[in-house]
Amino acid sequence: MRESVARGLEAARVRTHRLTEFEDSALTTQHHRLMSPLVWDLAHIGQQEDLWLLRGGNSACQGLLSAKVEGLYDAFEHPRAERVSLPLLTPQESRAFIGDVRGRVLDQLESADPERLFPYVMVEQHEQQHVETMLATHQLRDGEPLLGAGAALPSGRVLPSDSVLVPAGEFVLGVDGDDEPWSLDNERPAHRVELPAFRIGRVPVTNAEWQLFIDAGGYDERRWWSEPGWVHRLEAGLQRPQFWLPDGSRLRFGAVEEIPTDEPVQHVSYWEAQAYASWAGARLPTEQEWEKACAWDPVLCRRRRWPWGDQPWTPDLANLGGDGLRPAPVGAYPGGASAYGVEQMIGDVWEWTSSQFEAWPQFRPMLYADYSQPFFGGDFRVLRGGSWAVGGASIRPSFRNWDLPVRRQIFSGVRLAWDA
Ligand SMILES: [Fe+2]
Repeated sequence: MRESVARGLEAARVRTHRLTEFEDSALTTQHHRLMSPLVWDLAHIGQQEDLWLLRGGNSACQGLLSAKVEGLYDAFEHPRAERVSLPLLTPQESRAFIGDVRGRVLDQLESADPERLFPYVMVEQHEQQHVETMLATHQLRDGEPLLGAGAALPSGRVLPSDSVLVPAGEFVLGVDGDDEPWSLDNERPAHRVELPAFRIGRVPVTNAEWQLFIDAGGYDERRWWSEPGWVHRLEAGLQRPQFWLPDGSRLRFGAVEEIPTDEPVQHVSYWEAQAYASWAGARLPTEQEWEKACAWDPVLCRRRRWPWGDQPWTPDLANLGGDGLRPAPVGAYPGGASAYGVEQMIGDVWEWTSSQFEAWPQFRPMLYADYSQPFFGGDFRVLRGGSWAVGGASIRPSFRNWDLPVRRQIFSGVRLAWDA
């Protein structure tokens, strides 16, 4: 177990290096007001690892950085937009710091109690989350492409553009630590929930389908939009997904390319997702519906650990891990279908749900007590399933992400649902 935890930490670090081994200016520039300079993410990854693993979360203890420098990497203290003006560690100092922390962590891990490895995996998941954030920063960056075009992905297959029926009934929402030891606090505890029947899209909405919405004047027709969605649509001047260009091409990590028609649409906000769903005569799924369609096995009356079963992810089952640098075409993963026959729920794009971010009943905060709790009850919508950019071991059917309804620099897309 300790070896697999060490491998997970190493896999996250390989990805971190891949996104930060560039000349200093790429790391110290703020590429967008919504994002930190990459050098902040880099040292923050080490600061959190130092805090949770070398000091057991006790911030009163002196870490490897002075208290003054450590404070620069407190995400609650410093909003992203102001981080570039802080006296941050240089890229070279940041690399040395995170390497120093990691060396000590791996030494400590060798004699760690196998029953107490959760903090290590929590830190691995934290680093993988920042890798995804850094990919979003790279996507927003101007200038010569740095990341290449991405690895080959499986081809899609022609599917009926249809939906799948999920009959009414009870299922188990959420997980317990005994079954999913690496689950985070907001995914717990497992509890029974009754849902009416509903239908859900077999695959996510594609770029070609989104283009039909644009062609039909969807961005200009008030009736498809919610009140706050329309206000935002006007204020932000939304006309197409972010990074789509007016000539029908798109920008991806600094390169202009044709928009692949059969790829799930990404970089749409919750407000756009909701307007698209109304136009299509559908709605967004709730997160309870989403999780049932993904994880419930109605024959065995139990949860699967993954949509396809209980065996861990392999690259032929879902597009995770970031190597492709884009979603895979729909139909690319028939082997990854859920018990109900829903495909590509894990990987490719985060899927907006209609749910606001709330605690499950009997929620208990974990070691990192401010991970979820400060965000419950805010104006956040829940996203499910993970994107292509997510680490392979950092996503589960129970995993809950949340963001503001206007955000679309994230790798977010849409899956439709209907009352049955
Ligand atoms: Fe963080």
